[in-house]
This record gives sequence, structure tokens and C-alpha cells, in this order.
Amino acid sequence: MNFDERIDRRGSHSVKWDMMETLYGVPASTGIAMWVADMEFRPPAAIQKAVEGMAAHGLYGYFGDDRDYLAAIRWWMEHRHGWEVAPEWIFTVHGLVNGTALCVDAFTQPGDGVVLMTPVYHAFSRVIRAAGRDVVECRLAQDNGRYVMDLDAWDAQMTGRERMLILCSPHNPGGRVWTVEELRQVADFCVRHDLILVSDEIHHDLVYPGQRHTVMPLAAPEVLERLVMLTAGTKTFNIAGAHCGNVIIPDPTLRATMARRIGALGISPNSFGLFMVSAGYSPEGAEWADALMRYLEGNRALFDERINRIPGLRSMPLEATYLSWVDFAGTGMSAEEIHRRVESEAQIAANHGATFGAGGESFLRFNIAAPRAQVEEALERLSRAFADLQ
Ligand SMILES: Cc1ncc(COP(=O)(O)O)c(C=O)c1O
Repeated sequence: MNFDERIDRRGSHSVKWDMMETLYGVPASTGIAMWVADMEFRPPAAIQKAVEGMAAHGLYGYFGDDRDYLAAIRWWMEHRHGWEVAPEWIFTVHGLVNGTALCVDAFTQPGDGVVLMTPVYHAFSRVIRAAGRDVVECRLAQDNGRYVMDLDAWDAQMTGRERMLILCSPHNPGGRVWTVEELRQVADFCVRHDLILVSDEIHHDLVYPGQRHTVMPLAAPEVLERLVMLTAGTKTFNIAGAHCGNVIIPDPTLRATMARRIGALGISPNSFGLFMVSAGYSPEGAEWADALMRYLEGNRALFDERINRIPGLRSMPLEATYLSWVDFAGTGMSAEEIHRRVESEAQIAANHGATFGAGGESFLRFNIAAPRAQVEEALERLSRAFADLQ
């Protein structure tokens, strides 16, 4: 567990590094990649060992008998999140963008509305629109620089055509760990407007010391009949390329609908993902995840302290995730000028806020899950790019 080790990922087919020049004009030779949500760290040794075990065996045929995998999920959910999951509730899919798309496909019709609390993870709106459904943007409000829900305003927005709400818990971007009270309010909202509640909890293990994430079924057990949980070990352990996630559905009727769609689309899991996640969902993986959050806590403190020293910039206080959401509104600059300074001058690729939907326009999202020396270098570059404000 050496989170300070600097590993060169250039030329390794990493989307974060090898697509940076095409998408942001930042060459990998001189740039720092702070966009895509994967980390610059090696996964737990247990996962590496599992992959080496597969390679040593040297046969890569169809996977069968997922009892160990399901048991590992049950163990993790119970030990880390206090939630008992029955194995038959779990569908294994190709990651949670795939899981979200399956939910939209299985539980809504073309023309239906799907509610998002924006700004929010950009792939949600992408899959909803691609499926011919309407994105209904309910904007998060801010209280003391943190996102909060504005349920009265959202109630007034509902037309009766909405069928689903996709919640991001903890929230990306913005890093909120929703309180039990807030989760209950979302659940009540879904009951009031008869919405399927899809709770994407992919960031549930990336919670800073002192914060407590509550899984939706524990916060609001009364909505189990309309709840779909999305979970994965891929963010936790930095194995996103394994493309492996879980769609967990306690209600038998919703489950039968999902089973039919998965059958119709011919989806079956990839053995690499199952081996890797099973190895991570272990006491060794838990120890690694705790060490990771302690390291990220240091990066968060450093990043916040230095970024907030630049006049006009303000980072949201992160309760979870390694994705710092920085508001540039106070600079009074156009989005083009901010992007020019960050990308051309500082040579940093960070996600553009507008892609996260209404309310994100003046923000950039910076991935701080990197060796501290790299985060420091990025902060130096940003300070220089905005030196005229200081
Ligand atoms: C909220 C959220 N859901 C899903 C994903 C992607 O999931 P996957 O890689 O399993 O498709 C991300 C990645 O950043 C995310 O932030």
C-alpha cells in the first residue's frame, strides 16, 4: 500500500491519460490528467494476486457458479454497510453505466421523464437521452457552500410523466453524504410522484473518516417495492476496467421485469470482474479501503487549502469521493477563459462543469486520487495560471 508511488500510465490505453489530448488538447507528455474517475493507485494486493492466479492457470473460458462472488458481496454489504442482501436479489452487469441503462430500459418507456438532481454524474443524462426518454433536471440548491435538496421546488416541477428518479449517493460531483433525513425525503418524493427509485451508490466506500453513508434500504425500508440499488467494487478498488457492477432488486415483481430484459439482451458477466471484485471484498480489501481514505483525507486537505487561496475559486467540502468540485464563478471569467488557463496554461485536464447538467456551468471537477506530489504539482500550476488574481 504505497499511495505515493508514481506510476506512468501513458500509452497503457488509459482513457484518462491517452484520450486527454484528443478531448482537452492537453498532451500526455506534459499534462496532468484530473478528469475521469479512476485513481492513480494500484488496487489491493489480493486483487493483483487473483489476476495473477487466473494468468497462471491460463484458461479463460466461460464463468460458472457465482456463489463465491455473491457471498463476497453479501459479506461486504453486511460488514461495511450493515445491509443484508439476499443472493437472489443480485444481477451482475457490465458496470453501473450499463446498470443505469438497463433500469431505464426495463422500467420506463420512450417519452417518459427520468428525474435527476443536477448537477450530477454526466453519464446518467447521456443514457437517458440515448434511450429516447426525457431528462427532468431538478436543481440542487446550496446551503453554506454544500448541495441541499429543494423538494418544494421539485414537487412543483412534476408533470405526471415522470417514471423514475436516479439518485447519486454519495453525490458526484459535490461529494455530499446524504443524511438519513435527506434520503427519507427523496424516498417520500418517489412515493408522492410514483417513481421507481434507482440509488447509484458506487461511491459508498469512498467516505471520509467521520462521515457515515447509509444505504437507501436502511434509510427508507418502506420503499423497497420501488427500489433498485446499484453497487460495485470497481470505484472502491480502482478496477473500473473490469466493468463489473451489481443491480440489486429486493422486490420480486421489479426483479422479474429486470430478469426478462437481461435475458432478452443476452447479458452475462465477465470472469475477470468477478474474480477481482471477489478478492477485494475481503478483510484485506477492507483494510486497503480504510488506508485509501486516510491518504485521500490528506490530499483533500492539501487541495482545499491551496485552491481556496486563489481568489475567486471555491471547492465544495468533500464528505465522500475523490472528485473535487471547484466553482470558478468568483473569478468573473467566461468558461472559455477558465478552460484556456487550466488546459493550455496549467496543462491540466479536468471535467467541464456544464456536462453535469444545470447548475454546473461555472465549475470544474478535479480528480485528486493521485500521489500527493502530483496533486501538489497541479496546485502549483493552477496557482501560476491564476497568478494575476492574487
Ligand atoms: C455515480 C457514478 N455511477 C457510475 C459510474 C461509472 O460506473 P461504471 O464504471 O461501473 O460503469 C461512475 C463513474 O464515475 C459514477 O460516478
